[in-house]
Amino acid sequence: MKLTRRDFAKSLGAAALGTTALSAQAAGAALAGKPADAPQASGTRTFPQGFQWGSATASYQVEGAVAEDGRKPSIWDTFSHTPGKTFEGATGDVANDHYHRYKGDVQLMKALGVSSYRFSIAWPRVFPDGTGAPNPKGLDFYDRLVDELLENGIQPYATLYHWDLPQALQDSVGGWQSRETSEAFAKYAGYTAGKLSDRVKQFFTINEFGAFVEVGYRMGVHAPGLQLKGAALYQTRHNAVLGHGLAVQAIRASAAPGTRVGLAENMAICCPVVESDVHIKAAREAARQLNAAYMTVIQEGAYTDLYLATAGKDAPTYTAEELKAISSPLDFVGVNIYTPTYVRADGSAQGYAVVPHPASFPHAPSPWLYVGPEALYWGPRHLHDLWKVQDIYITENGCSAADAVAADGKVYDTDRVAYLRNYLSQLQRATSEGVPVKGYFLWSLMDNFEWADGYSNRFGIHHVDFTTQVRTPKLSADFYREVIRRNAVA
Ligand code: FCB
Repeated sequence: MKLTRRDFAKSLGAAALGTTALSAQAAGAALAGKPADAPQASGTRTFPQGFQWGSATASYQVEGAVAEDGRKPSIWDTFSHTPGKTFEGATGDVANDHYHRYKGDVQLMKALGVSSYRFSIAWPRVFPDGTGAPNPKGLDFYDRLVDELLENGIQPYATLYHWDLPQALQDSVGGWQSRETSEAFAKYAGYTAGKLSDRVKQFFTINEFGAFVEVGYRMGVHAPGLQLKGAALYQTRHNAVLGHGLAVQAIRASAAPGTRVGLAENMAICCPVVESDVHIKAAREAARQLNAAYMTVIQEGAYTDLYLATAGKDAPTYTAEELKAISSPLDFVGVNIYTPTYVRADGSAQGYAVVPHPASFPHAPSPWLYVGPEALYWGPRHLHDLWKVQDIYITENGCSAADAVAADGKVYDTDRVAYLRNYLSQLQRATSEGVPVKGYFLWSLMDNFEWADGYSNRFGIHHVDFTTQVRTPKLSADFYREVIRRNAVA
């Protein structure tokens, strides 16, 4: 069913009403004649001191320059150049030309006032064949970018794998189907962290196991476009978390003291249908089970009984030593949160049922992106309740929107602003209850190559004209600047 703009706006409004309670303090301020929304007047809408505000991008989505300075193809080059795989045959050949325009892009961040930037390093720039000899010219780009960020007072947060696997590894060993890729990833991660950790103090190993394995290796909608089943699929999932664990160990062995390591996962965010004890309990259990292949095994060092029973004869093969590597202690946990999975208690043995989104449930132009602001509360809360995670980052959050450039050249993306305001209200709810969320990275700094959707779904708070490469702040950039300025929901 296609939603009208009215439906979308109606639901965002309802979400805001249902979730943004005025505190007694703010209500008191209002009674005393002070505007409740004046900076700092509304105590409960403020984030903790030192909260990190950032923006995020990823290498293949913005860099372009795919054949420059020794970079060789990744699986995304191959996939996007295969007819029919991306919307209108779009590729990342040029994308935002960030490889050449990074200085200007750092100025966009500076104007926003962000304290942090999450970017990813392209493995095929550093090791063009995946393994073997490193390519110093490829790493040089990240040296330049990091220096530019630091000179502008912005902390670099580097992701080591945001899906651009060197094609050579896909060709030679089947990519993540093979443990050799997990080992190659660890070598690349250790090498890169060793080189950059004099200035980069935070690394994320892998971005979204749950996307690159499931959408790329199972559904075939992302690179490398495979449709694995059974044992091959379970083993691929295992190799991905093993790659993460081995990389954590390699980074610890080679990086400068004080380097912090984590990951950025798109867990299923299990939201109770009603916030009563029974549904909350069901949602917490669902959070363990629905994330068993990735976050749960990383946190617990074991696959859940339910996961192994479901896999049956297809269960992955692994050793105790591998489980130990997979569950290597982390300095922080990043979660990319866009959309809720609603869960209810159902009296069954497993204790929960997932409630499918009704056809009328509002979503962004990206059909997978259902709008449920409380996801930004329940995601961190489950991490804290289930596994006592002490340092949580929201490594991505944002939305696509049908942006249109107005006559005055501006994009008035009021729907994105509504989305962000409502989601941030729920994040603020989490921090005000003591859930240890330390930072938030908005996806994305600017419109970019949105994978199989090509350039059709824009997620940026800066509009990009892909013909001229001109970047223009949208209304949502003004909104975010104000959030950062106040350290509060604006
Ligand atoms: C996430 C990806 C990111 C971007 C957003 C919209 O799943 O990590 O690269 O495409 O979705």
